[in-house]
Amino acid sequence: MRVPGDKSISHRAALIAPLASSPSVVRGLSDGVDVRASVRAMQRLGAAVECTDEERGLTIRCAGGGLEFGLAPRLDCGNSGTTARLLAGILAGSGAAAVLDGDPSLRSRPMRRVIYPLQAMGARIEYDGEPERLPVRLHGRATGALRTLRHRGRVASAQVKSAVLLAGVLGRVRVEVSEPALSRDHTERMLAAMGVPIAFDPERMGAGEVRFDPSGWEGGLEGLRMTVPGDPSSAAFLIGASLLGGRAVRVEAVAANAGRIGFLSVLEEMGARVDRDPEPAQADEPLETWTVHPPDGLRAFSIGGDLIPRVVDEIPLLAVLAARARGRSEIRDAAELRVKESDRLAVLARTLGRLGVVVEERADGLTIRGRAGRLRGDVETRGDHRIAMAFGVLDAAGDADLRIDDRACVDVSYPGFWEAIEPFRRRGRRARSPRTGRVIAVDGPAASGKSSTARSVARRLGFVHVNSGLLYRAITRWALDRGIAEDGPSIEAAAPGLEIDLVPAGDGFDVSVEGTRPGPGLETPEVTARVSAVSMLPAVREVVLERLRRAGRRHDIVCDGRDIGTAVFPGADLKVFLVAEARERARRRLRQRGAPLTDDEVERETRRLDARDRLDRSRPLSPLRRASDAIEIDTTSMSPKRVVDAILELAAAAFR
Ligand code: S3P
Repeated sequence: MRVPGDKSISHRAALIAPLASSPSVVRGLSDGVDVRASVRAMQRLGAAVECTDEERGLTIRCAGGGLEFGLAPRLDCGNSGTTARLLAGILAGSGAAAVLDGDPSLRSRPMRRVIYPLQAMGARIEYDGEPERLPVRLHGRATGALRTLRHRGRVASAQVKSAVLLAGVLGRVRVEVSEPALSRDHTERMLAAMGVPIAFDPERMGAGEVRFDPSGWEGGLEGLRMTVPGDPSSAAFLIGASLLGGRAVRVEAVAANAGRIGFLSVLEEMGARVDRDPEPAQADEPLETWTVHPPDGLRAFSIGGDLIPRVVDEIPLLAVLAARARGRSEIRDAAELRVKESDRLAVLARTLGRLGVVVEERADGLTIRGRAGRLRGDVETRGDHRIAMAFGVLDAAGDADLRIDDRACVDVSYPGFWEAIEPFRRRGRRARSPRTGRVIAVDGPAASGKSSTARSVARRLGFVHVNSGLLYRAITRWALDRGIAEDGPSIEAAAPGLEIDLVPAGDGFDVSVEGTRPGPGLETPEVTARVSAVSMLPAVREVVLERLRRAGRRHDIVCDGRDIGTAVFPGADLKVFLVAEARERARRRLRQRGAPLTDDEVERETRRLDARDRLDRSRPLSPLRRASDAIEIDTTSMSPKRVVDAILELAAAAFR
């Protein structure tokens, strides 16, 4: 398997590469919401950064040249602590003005740890709301240098260390940081790779010591060229699923930075064997491929002290594994977990307790007694991605039956998470069960021919064709008839109680709403104009997802849409992803409408489709994305019949 690009390295690439004096190209950045916040912030600060969504994550191209002064934008860092804290250092060092803000979770997290040292260097920063919390206002600095700083951090924090280093480098003043234990050193490595004189060798300097000294340095960062390695914190969830599900896994090209992979030694303590094969490094970041062999049963573990900063993001997963291990596991010295995206110690203790696991919560840790037997209950994630993923792993592979309140929050760091853990699901309990029918999922961008292809495939196989758009249109029609089509909250409030069903009709389905069948009323221009907005409402998506899955339990189906293989049927028997060049799709669409195929019309429709693609790919809820196990078919120069035949061939192999 592969995991998305490392989030920490991606943030640094997005924030530091644009500051170089020469161009940079970085590929494979995490496509999570957090890293997108960093990219957007730099663009809003006037940096020349171009960002594209590629098959393996984001690619950024930076012309170099740094920030524009005098813009003083308000920067929304979303849920991302790394964006907020590293940006504070960048703004302080470069002298640009801005206001940093974030979502309610980020607004509740401590900022003094980074603002105070920056103020000590002479940066003018004020708290705009609550003291020591976001939003903070950084005033520009026209002239006058920052002061040199020796900072002794009370907690080991890579974010604080990075902020001080970046302020020093950009302000060209000597800084030294010491931490009580070694935290991740991605900033140091990246700056060194860009030609900055940074001393951070733990052997020479001592663990947790780093220094930047500008004397003799000509200044100017060299452009960065790298492919971001896979995220070990994301890989940890797959490995956790492998241990619980008893199925070996190999994860390729993972960042193997010593500050990140403390969890491997914990897994070994639990009885797992991890084979590590080195691969060529990327911009001074080591890479490895890991093969993990699960043991027969997991043993309890005990962690604390210097190890904690090196497993800090993996503790939710380790706590969940502890619930399934033989004996009592101990987590100590982990008070930092109380100020992450949620108070992770409290959330873990409460949730595991609710599932019937004996947990003791202390100020700086947890004691967890593992237990056997099925675990059942509700998981309140508090919108914390790592909590959702840790319990997602338990639900899939750990003999549990959990209701997770917010599954979408994983998009912060790992948009493909739910389908990635599907292979680890215990036999007989795949997500599609207790489905009896077979499912072929057909996804793809607008006008890629999904519906007509899916309909033909269904007809040839004797399956039923289900089109997710039909349900969205029916709900839109219903909202129009009620006069609430513009009122998202009212639609959302009514959606869960809506009597809407797919009823078999011919070789497909018709839809019935509150006992009546809207029929041709679904294709009217007013429905077409509003269906996209209605389909973005989370409560509406929930209802549609449930109805589609119900159809899949009762019938053999071919289902088409934009998130069928990723969100609706992650365990589908066959997934195809249809693509075609935008110009060809434009031509097909015009032909379908009976419109003339003049150059102008084709050009205009191509631009419309391009814009729609961008929107579909970047929308936060169920974005258009090829599932990692979907087979892509480029139909640009294929006839409709050849596309159908190709899918039939794949289906024959899948059902053999
Ligand atoms: C990060 C550092 C850690 C970690 C966070 C990402 C980084 O936080 O928990 O997910 O990219 O520098 P602290 O530096 O606050 O410990």
